[in-house]
Amino acid sequence: MDKLVIHGGRPLRGEIVIGGSKNAVLPMMAAAMLAEGRYALSNVPRLKDVRTMARLVEGIGVSVTAEGRNLILENPGCRTWEAPYDLVKTMRASIYVLGPLLARYGRAKVSLPGGCAWGPRPVNLHIEGMRKLGADVAIKEGYIVATAGKLKGARILFDKSSVGATANILLAAVLARGTTRIENAAREPEIDALCDFLNRMGGRIAGMGTGHLEIEGVDSLRPVSAEVIPDRIETGTYLVAGHITGGDLTLRRTRPDHCVAVIEKLRESGADVDEGPDWIRVRSGGQIRPTHVVTVEYPGFPTDMQAQWLALMSLAAGTSTVTDTIFHDRFTHVAELQRLGADLTIDRNVCVVQGTDFLSGARVMSTDLRASASLVLAGLVARGRTDISRVYHLDRGYERIEEKLGSVGADIRRESEKTTPS
Ligand code: UD1
Repeated sequence: MDKLVIHGGRPLRGEIVIGGSKNAVLPMMAAAMLAEGRYALSNVPRLKDVRTMARLVEGIGVSVTAEGRNLILENPGCRTWEAPYDLVKTMRASIYVLGPLLARYGRAKVSLPGGCAWGPRPVNLHIEGMRKLGADVAIKEGYIVATAGKLKGARILFDKSSVGATANILLAAVLARGTTRIENAAREPEIDALCDFLNRMGGRIAGMGTGHLEIEGVDSLRPVSAEVIPDRIETGTYLVAGHITGGDLTLRRTRPDHCVAVIEKLRESGADVDEGPDWIRVRSGGQIRPTHVVTVEYPGFPTDMQAQWLALMSLAAGTSTVTDTIFHDRFTHVAELQRLGADLTIDRNVCVVQGTDFLSGARVMSTDLRASASLVLAGLVARGRTDISRVYHLDRGYERIEEKLGSVGADIRRESEKTTPS
C-alpha cells in the first residue's frame, strides 16, 4: 500500500492539464455492451476505476485495450450476464452494466453494490426503473437478478434525481420498444455526455440538461468513437489547491461552464478567477473568506467537492457552514481534518467550520476518494509533514496527483508504506 508524504506551505504556481472525466467514461464503457463492434474512446483518464470497469466489461466479453489516453473496446458479443461481487464491491458504478445487459441480452445478474465508507447508498431507483421498463427483477443472495423480453418504453418519475439511475435507465431504454420519459432526470454534464454518446451510436434521446429526458427506443445501435469530457471534480479540486496555498494556478483543457457553482464560491471566498473557453486561472487574494455552501444537484455545488471545500474553509477568516443534501453522512474526512487542526463540528448533515490561522501536519488516513483529496489539500498548506495512508482511494479518481501537484511546486511524494514503517 502506498502513502503520500507532503511538506506543506508552498504556494502552487503554474499550469495543470485536466484529464478526462471518470464519471463520464464509466457509463460510456458500459454502453459498449449495447452493440457489437469496435469503439475508440479518447481523453480517457488512467484511473483505477477505469481499470475496474475494463475488467468488468472484459468479464462480460468486451475486450479492452489501453493505448495511452485512448481506450479501444471490441465487442464480439456477450459471454456472460454476470457482474461478480469482487468487482462490484470496489466500485459502485459497476451497476451500469445492468441496463445494457437487460436491453441487449434480456438477462443480468449484478451484485448489489453495498454501502460506502460514509453510509448506505441504495439502488432502488435503478431497480424500480428497470421494472417500469418491463423487467422482472429479484434480489437473490446479494445479487440483482433480472430478466426481460424486449424492454418496453415507460414513464419513469424519479422521486430523487439520481445520476446513476438516470444513466442506467438511458442505457436500457435506448433499445426498448417505444418511448421512455424520465422525469426529474439528472442534469449532470456526465449524463449529457452519455446521451451524446448514445445518440451518436444511433439512439434517439432528447431533452438533455432539462431534467426531462425522452428516449425513443431503436432496434439496434452501432459502435462509435468519442472524446471524454474534462473532469469537473479534478478541476474543482485543483482550483481549491490554488486558493488554499495562496498560489496562482491555470488549469488547461477543462470546461469552465461545468464548474460555475465552484467558481462562484471561490470568488466569494476571496479568490480571483479568470476563465477562457477551455481554461480557468485561480489566484488567491491572500485571505480566505468564510462561505456558506449547500451541496445540491447540478448545476449547484457538487457533493463531490464538499470535502475539499471543508479543507479550504478550515483556514477561512471566520465561521462557515457546509451542508450536504445529497449524501447526509458523507463526513468521514472530518475526523482526519481535525487531526490536522481543523475546527469542525457536525450537526446532522451540516458541518460548522470555525476557521483557524494554520493547520499542522500529522498522520492521517484516506477513507474515500474525495475525503482523500481534502486531506491532500489540507496537507499542502499544513505546517510540517503530513502522511496520508491508503492512497489507493485517491488513485480511483485522480491521475498522478503527486506528479501534477509536484509540477506546480508542491513538496509531495509517494512512498510504499512497507518500506517506511510509521
Ligand atoms: C454519482 C457520482 C458520484 C456523485 C453522485 C452525486 C458516478 C460514478 N458517481 O453517484 O461521484 O457523488 O453521483 O452527484 O457518477 N439514491 C437513491 N436511490 C437510488 C440511487 C440514488 O435513493 O437508487 C439517492 C442517493 O442516496 C443520493 C441521491 O440519490 O442521496 C443521489 O445519488 P446518485 O446521483 O444516484 O449518486 P451516484 O450515481 O451513485
